[in-house]
Amino acid sequence: MKPKYQTVTGMHDILPDDQKYYEKVYETAKEIAAFYGFDHIETPVLENSELFEKGTGVTTDIVQKQMYSFKTKGGDNLSLRPEGTPSIVRSYLQNGMANWPQPVKLWYYGPYFRHEKPQAGRYRQFWQLGFEAIGQAGAIIDAQIIQIYFNILKELGLGNIAIEINSIGDALCRPHYRKSLSSYLRSREGALCADCKRRIKENPLRILDCKEEKCQAVKAQAPQSVDNLCDECKAHFKEVLEYLEEIGLPYRLNPYLVRGLDYYTRTVFEIYQEGSNGQAQAALGGGGRYDALIKMLGGKETPAMGGALGVDRIVMAMKAANIIVGQEKKVKVFLAQLGNLGKKKCLKLFEELRLAGIATGESFDRDSLKSQLKTADKYGAKFTLLLGQREAIEGTVILRDMETGKQESLKLDTAVAEIKKRFKK
Ligand code: HAM
Repeated sequence: MKPKYQTVTGMHDILPDDQKYYEKVYETAKEIAAFYGFDHIETPVLENSELFEKGTGVTTDIVQKQMYSFKTKGGDNLSLRPEGTPSIVRSYLQNGMANWPQPVKLWYYGPYFRHEKPQAGRYRQFWQLGFEAIGQAGAIIDAQIIQIYFNILKELGLGNIAIEINSIGDALCRPHYRKSLSSYLRSREGALCADCKRRIKENPLRILDCKEEKCQAVKAQAPQSVDNLCDECKAHFKEVLEYLEEIGLPYRLNPYLVRGLDYYTRTVFEIYQEGSNGQAQAALGGGGRYDALIKMLGGKETPAMGGALGVDRIVMAMKAANIIVGQEKKVKVFLAQLGNLGKKKCLKLFEELRLAGIATGESFDRDSLKSQLKTADKYGAKFTLLLGQREAIEGTVILRDMETGKQESLKLDTAVAEIKKRFKK
């Protein structure tokens, strides 16, 4: 029978075997962040709902359908964060980062919450790692952010990484595009799904992001944003693509990529791992430029670029590719004990070994020497230190070479130094 208490639908424990993968992703991102000059930041999981309503956008699925929002006993309207970018901008403004040397480059790693229909790779609590560069207008950072994500995935051993990219223009040229898109969509209104019929007025670009089959056919003939860019946006996009070519990243233009969040301007991108059948799968990550968001949330006009990777999806891809991580740390020494006095001395010796930086295993809860030696073998220990009643009284310890079975007696005081010497040989 199933235990009564289960995780909430769409949320899951990360058990130790999986945690190794999550940690590997974290460590890899951390190393790459340091190289590219991004500092680590973490923001709270709860924010005022208004931050996402304004930032992520009231017309987005995230805000309309997926936020975990509630009123606190004190009367505040709060939401579990569905994504990271508005929180980072809030923190940038709240902490006066506009006065720091620009750009402010930050990265983060943590849990996010969206009330979506759970399926493989789509959870209600999921992990993201994100990079944001605030205060940098040049196209080089667009290319660099994409490169960072590509590098993280490559470093983790994932192949067949594909980058899709598009430009959706800015406040100057997007209204024209929106108009021509709307008039095209109105002409095909009957062929759209119910959600998209509503979107024609609210946010016609979002229709290009709709996964409904009937909307796909309409999308295929829709006008493209790249054909409607103003000169500045066109030049910026051209530059981004030139940088990507210069660093040899395998991108492809997707003229209908618009992304499901409201704040994007100019560059938008998504990263996929293509399956063996050539089919693109759910995005491992995505992002883009958000040059208008900082002002919208109360700051000065400030350009910015960023993106996020879905850690759960990366972990799934790593496992599917049979990538092994976090192999059992090779325990060099195993500490075995017999009798009460031996156990007592062992506890102290265990600490000394830790301070000396020697990887050490133990099973202090076992009394039988045979079973302890078996564990030592399983750990792959090179030496076992045996401390029984007699050794404890004599101030000695037995060193057993696990390969040859040869044993010798060492002085307890100098045992750690002696072992260190052995490992140096
Ligand atoms: P996003 O595309 O909504 O962008 O999410 C980024 C990634 O998070 C997705 O590509 C996916 O891998 C993962 N993800 C999203 N939802 C789920 C889910 N329900 N379950 C599992 N994984 C999921 C953003 O969140 C933006 N804040 C990215 C950004 C940063 N743009 C600019 N700066």
